[in-house]
Amino acid sequence: MSILSGKNILLGITGGIAAYKSIFLLRLLVKSGANVQVILTPSAKDFVTPLTLSTLSNRPILSDFFDKNNQNKVWNNHVDLALWADLFVIAPATSNTLSKMASARADNLLLATYLSSKCPVYFAPAMDLDMHKNMANKENINRLISFGNKHIPVNSGFLASGLEGEGRMSEPPEIVDFIKNDLRKDLKLLNKKILITAGPTYESIDAVRFIGNYSTGKMGFALAKVAAKLGADVTLISGPTSLSMNDDYVKVINVITADQMFSEVKKHYESSEITIMSAAVSDFKPRSSFDKKIKKENKNLLSIELVENVDILKYLGENKNNNQILVGFALETDNEVEYAKLKIQKKNLDAIILNSLNDKGAGFGHDTNKVTYINFSGTIQKFKLKLKDEVAKDIFDQILTDFNEKI
Ligand code: CTP
Repeated sequence: MSILSGKNILLGITGGIAAYKSIFLLRLLVKSGANVQVILTPSAKDFVTPLTLSTLSNRPILSDFFDKNNQNKVWNNHVDLALWADLFVIAPATSNTLSKMASARADNLLLATYLSSKCPVYFAPAMDLDMHKNMANKENINRLISFGNKHIPVNSGFLASGLEGEGRMSEPPEIVDFIKNDLRKDLKLLNKKILITAGPTYESIDAVRFIGNYSTGKMGFALAKVAAKLGADVTLISGPTSLSMNDDYVKVINVITADQMFSEVKKHYESSEITIMSAAVSDFKPRSSFDKKIKKENKNLLSIELVENVDILKYLGENKNNNQILVGFALETDNEVEYAKLKIQKKNLDAIILNSLNDKGAGFGHDTNKVTYINFSGTIQKFKLKLKDEVAKDIFDQILTDFNEKI
């Protein structure tokens, strides 16, 4: 998932030849999962057609204060539009529009919406090289920056005039990257390496049977999504689940057995600043597994000899350095808090997330969970029954509060 996914974006296109590139920009924004509303200045319509833009954005294109084709004179409310937007991107921004933005002119819908907006505004100028060099123009750009608008600088190269120099609008992928990086820069876990395990492990009995558990992986996947949203680079090591992950910042490694999970976790642990073991790792595995299906005539195989799996979390606690934060999960049925606190000590954890099987709607399979967060110094934070996505947010809020200095 991109940081732009689900964001409401106003794309303002003004009347310059670079407007043709804004079609690609619109395409990229839509592909990132954003809801994009295009506003054209009247002269932009000479460069790009509303039909192309409305087809790509799946919305009517706005340009006038009133919809002239509609007899009821529907007002395109610039205030509502501005409030709807999470961000406003004006690309290309011509010298004319920049000057009007800098002096609070509102003689078209795009400008009136700009003046009403409270969201971040990005502008990507495009003009011929001498216009770009012009001091009045430079001053307008600087004024707009001083008002808090975000300037996406021009590129140098061939210009529509046939001249060569500075003035080309930044390329659409560069504009998207600029916005994404700008949105990410304030994220609390920016570029932190986070390792999360999720799901059950399956321990093979024979070619078709295994020992497993009811974990669906939902909690671990929710944690990974929240960490990525906070700016982290996440490695998610997951046992078998039916879930899928579509996030540029979450690398998924699929495993089946506890041994495979252990081997993958070891590869990624040292470089991880925060590790959360939410997987329901099987404590035991069959001493031996059969390549073929065991036939029911094999009565001597009615009992399966089990051996213990490695305790991955314990290993991580024993091999933790001072800068790492290690969080475990505990699933208990009685003396919950006491046992969870003991696990913090035994496995050298920084915090533990306690799931109680006594809570309705909590634990395996549900979309909701009810957890208690306990840190190494014994501070307890109980949360209400919530969607697992919200539980994941609570857990990271708590980690960020407790380990603010380390992170
Ligand atoms: N865990 C692990 N490796 C295992 C078993 C569990 O890393 N072989 C981790 C889980 O991912 C979880 C934590 O240990 O973060 C707690 O697991 P839990 O089953 O509640 O506790 P156990 O340590 O197995 O202890 P007990 O069965 O006695 O409750």
